[in-house]
Amino acid sequence: MAKVGFYKDENVVPLEMHKVRIVQKLTLPPLEQRLACIQGAGYNTFLLQNADVFLDMLTDSGVNAMSDQQQAAMMVADDSYAGSSTFTRLAAKLRDIFGMQHFLPAHQGRACEHILAKVFVAPGSVVPMNYHFTTTKAHITVQGGIVEELVVAEGLAVTSAEPFKGNMDCERLADCIQRYTPGKIAFVRVEAGTNLIGGQPFSLQNLRDVREVCDRFGVMLVMDASLLADNLHFVKTREEACRDMSIRDITRAMADCCDILYFSARKLGCARGGGICIRSEAHYRAMRGLVPLFEGFLTYGGMSVREMEAMTVGLEETMDADVISQGPQFIGFMVDELVKRGVPVITPAGGLGCHIDAMRFVDHIPQTQYPAGALAAALYIAGGIRGMERGTLSEQRAPDGSEPLASMELVRLALPRRVFTLSQVLFAVDRLEWLYKHRRLIGGLEWSEEPEILRFFFYGRLTPKGGWSEKLAHQFRKDFGDCL
Ligand code: F0G
Repeated sequence: MAKVGFYKDENVVPLEMHKVRIVQKLTLPPLEQRLACIQGAGYNTFLLQNADVFLDMLTDSGVNAMSDQQQAAMMVADDSYAGSSTFTRLAAKLRDIFGMQHFLPAHQGRACEHILAKVFVAPGSVVPMNYHFTTTKAHITVQGGIVEELVVAEGLAVTSAEPFKGNMDCERLADCIQRYTPGKIAFVRVEAGTNLIGGQPFSLQNLRDVREVCDRFGVMLVMDASLLADNLHFVKTREEACRDMSIRDITRAMADCCDILYFSARKLGCARGGGICIRSEAHYRAMRGLVPLFEGFLTYGGMSVREMEAMTVGLEETMDADVISQGPQFIGFMVDELVKRGVPVITPAGGLGCHIDAMRFVDHIPQTQYPAGALAAALYIAGGIRGMERGTLSEQRAPDGSEPLASMELVRLALPRRVFTLSQVLFAVDRLEWLYKHRRLIGGLEWSEEPEILRFFFYGRLTPKGGWSEKLAHQFRKDFGDCL
């Protein structure tokens, strides 16, 4: 990673090691329009139209900036159903980077999870993991499997100085495998840049320790590498023993610990698609048949050849420390600025995005009234910024209709890689500071239309209790005058 000095200490900011040559116009709708839009969207940020959003921080999935080299590669894609040389190039790049012999393409990350769960998970199987991701857990439970979360205790602490909050607790892992007997363990799963606890990494040492436990019991180790780029950056910058290793060497050392790794290329490689890299011929053969059935022929797996070319280049670019440091550095900057202003956020900064701790931000809103959902709606009103609720709203009701309360109430403000400028990040920080000052104006939400499953995605609609959004807008007008 380029270490650039600044003459004046107070000027130190993360410096982009790229220039922007294609831009997309943005508009910040006026306050009244923002209020109407969030009402129209049932206070569910998923239902906002992107045209009404100024900074779309919903996700980093499929919305990262591509490089000029990626775009150029898309022009030379080999559009053939079978045996495309585009696929050959992609498979060779993956073999080169991860050192695994076999590759199965899939249309995105969850499709890989579908295949893995169908082949390896049976009713009563157990999948121990550092932490679940929503789609992963859904695929495992649909097959009758159980997820056991074994992240280190510090992983669930909102504020912490622990650099590797995504680490697996290896003692609990060994206990878990023994408790269920190794035969019941479908595989052990480690998630790089652990999404739902704030994009938190695990260390290379921890991964090696997990491998040792897997070897002891003869259990397979699978890595979800969707957020690997961020995790690589943190291993390089936070793990003393890896300081002098290249990103390529760290990547290979991580892959060497695993039997299988899969990824969403909507994140890893800054394109769209996904795939499974497999070490053993037997595992490859066990999964292969499902690709033509659910995805597409074995040499495209539901992906466009153009995306595959972009992915091949994007994967190579992921080996460049400057490229992968941009996201985590911007997120680190945003987190530091918010901490300076007293706004409660997850620390240390992770990858993917900045995570606001709604439990502390709006501590007057009970969890049953969805504090993180309310805060996400308020932030859209304040600045046209779209974040994602990661709390109780994102959970499912239990079969008896009761509502399990999430262990964290977060608003995730994703920073798609190389998309936003530092001044846009500062704008978000400024609006969050204003909102924090007026946090008592924000109230809870209640359902007006609640879908049975995936409440967010299936057009769930809510209303603000006591009409707080109007009061917040009124305060905004008072403080910002006729400014947007
Ligand atoms: N694994 C992880 C760690 C992810 O973050 C995601 C997606 C997936 C698997 C599934 O991949 O979307 O390509 O099917 N995360 C997105 C997000 C949805 O917004 O965080 P996919």
